[in-house]
Amino acid sequence: MSQSLKGRSVLVTGSSKGIGKGIARVFAGAGAKVAVLARHADQAEAAAKEIGHGAFGLSGDVTLLASMEAAMKTVAGKNGGIDVLCANAGIFPPARLEDMTSEQWDEVIDTNLKGTFHAIKAAIPYLKKSDQGRIVITSSITGPITGFPGWTHYGASKAGQLGFMRTACIELAKYGITVNAVMPGNIVTEGLAGMGEEYQKSMAASVPLKRLGSVEDIGYAALYFASKEAGYVTGQTIIVDGGQILPESLDALAQA
Ligand SMILES: NC(=O)c1ccc[n+]([C@@H]2O[C@H](COP(=O)([O-])OP(=O)(O)OC[C@H]3O[C@@H](n4cnc5c(N)ncnc54)[C@H](OP(=O)(O)O)[C@@H]3O)[C@@H](O)[C@H]2O)c1
Repeated sequence: MSQSLKGRSVLVTGSSKGIGKGIARVFAGAGAKVAVLARHADQAEAAAKEIGHGAFGLSGDVTLLASMEAAMKTVAGKNGGIDVLCANAGIFPPARLEDMTSEQWDEVIDTNLKGTFHAIKAAIPYLKKSDQGRIVITSSITGPITGFPGWTHYGASKAGQLGFMRTACIELAKYGITVNAVMPGNIVTEGLAGMGEEYQKSMAASVPLKRLGSVEDIGYAALYFASKEAGYVTGQTIIVDGGQILPESLDALAQA
């Protein structure tokens, strides 16, 4: 698996920090030519520099189809095509349903769901030319499986990505392109790390494996879906959450 990404051109959206950066780092470590995309070019470039292995940063906004088309062209020109798209960019500003504005709803859906569509649509012409075309979507446990107050819009966007995937994988199968999704649980990103050790400890207590996930935990799951060996796997999901969704009650955890 670690060999099959060698020399492959990989674009990760939303990879200047957080999970995307972890995915980019894992792919770069596996020998892939990685493009780091975010709206802020300076942060994308800084992350690429930190990742090394020839990674480069570029700006792009998944809410705009033209921006994604331009980004794909740049990446393909620089790295000789695109073999793997990791559609990872996402936002999660909380808003309670009773207070949520139509604009707040649109912002989250436009970035997380429409943004997934834009990135994938713009990548298709390049992925079609690859003999190992792969799309890996970053969804979440929140929405498809669980809920959390403040995240009705977010949960809808993350569940929506999976509905999108199940038809996209059928349409793209004729090109040998696979489409799969990683569903992370609670992952330690810069944002979460900033909330302090105590907060992280209390969150980890609800996870059977008693720790929060790392961004690399998600990166390795994405690497599997992108590998040559996963060529017969499409339209599937993998939950990477330390077992978080499994205990049916607090007692189930306490008795363990
Ligand atoms: N963290 C978790 O525990 C967790 C759990 C489950 C799922 N997820 C999913 O994992 C993904 C990444 O989350 P994260 O926690 O790593 O987020 P994060 O640390 O806030 O990073 C988000 C990244 O996306 C970029 N971005 C935001 N809006 C964008 C846009 N319109 N176009 C292009 N790039 C954009 C950001 O850079 P710019 O601001 O410069 O654009 C940044 O690079 C999301 O899809 C999220 O739903 C996260």
